[in-house]
Amino acid sequence: AGGVPVVEKGKLTTCTHLPYPPFQFEQGGKVVGFDVALVDLVAKDLEVEQKILDTPFENFKTGAFLNSGECDLAAAGMTITDERKKNVDFSVPYFDATQALLATRKSGITTLADVEAKGAKLGAQAGTTGESHAKSEGFDPVAFESSDAVLNGLRTGQVDAVVIDYPVVQGWLKDKDNADAFVLGQNIETGEQYGFSVKKGNDALRAAIDKAIRDAKADGTYDKLYRQWIGP
Ligand code: ARG
Repeated sequence: AGGVPVVEKGKLTTCTHLPYPPFQFEQGGKVVGFDVALVDLVAKDLEVEQKILDTPFENFKTGAFLNSGECDLAAAGMTITDERKKNVDFSVPYFDATQALLATRKSGITTLADVEAKGAKLGAQAGTTGESHAKSEGFDPVAFESSDAVLNGLRTGQVDAVVIDYPVVQGWLKDKDNADAFVLGQNIETGEQYGFSVKKGNDALRAAIDKAIRDAKADGTYDKLYRQWIGP
């Protein structure tokens, strides 16, 4: 605890799960996004470069890749939950999120109650808070491996509606073809906050991340990045 953050091999290695626009996604052969930009601020403070590894989402709960030293931190639009806190330590929150119910226009679904009433098929990304929310409402959603797979499941008609983080949908619906065929029904106020996670007890790195987030909020960098990646 305390002291100078130690990063593996002179790089700040971030584990993520791609793609998760606008937080992390590939563009022109590079992984970019809001999370990437925030973690770059941490790397800059530590005078190292950020290196990003794509890893299975399941690891984000267990913290396996943090414990093995494969990654220094995890950044994946990840919600801070008590369950995850058992296995990893989180930074201060850096983003407030809600869940969205997204449905095909032709299904006529705009609420979870409609999904139930119509006996429709619901989908979610495995291991996410969207999946937990659906389960807590009594659904047994079809589980997809990534957020892209969730949206493809909806496109190809495997499911009629999905529960997924609102900011992902917000960007996705900016595409006219998507907006023509799909509707944002309920915005479900789950009161979620995203955090970056570190290995349990890595207080030095956690403090460095917290400092970078606080500094960015204080000097306007956070707002600038928010506008750049999330929107007005
Ligand atoms: N915020 C949600 C959660 O923590 C979804 C995160 C999904 N992230 C991703 N990279 N696919 O469960």
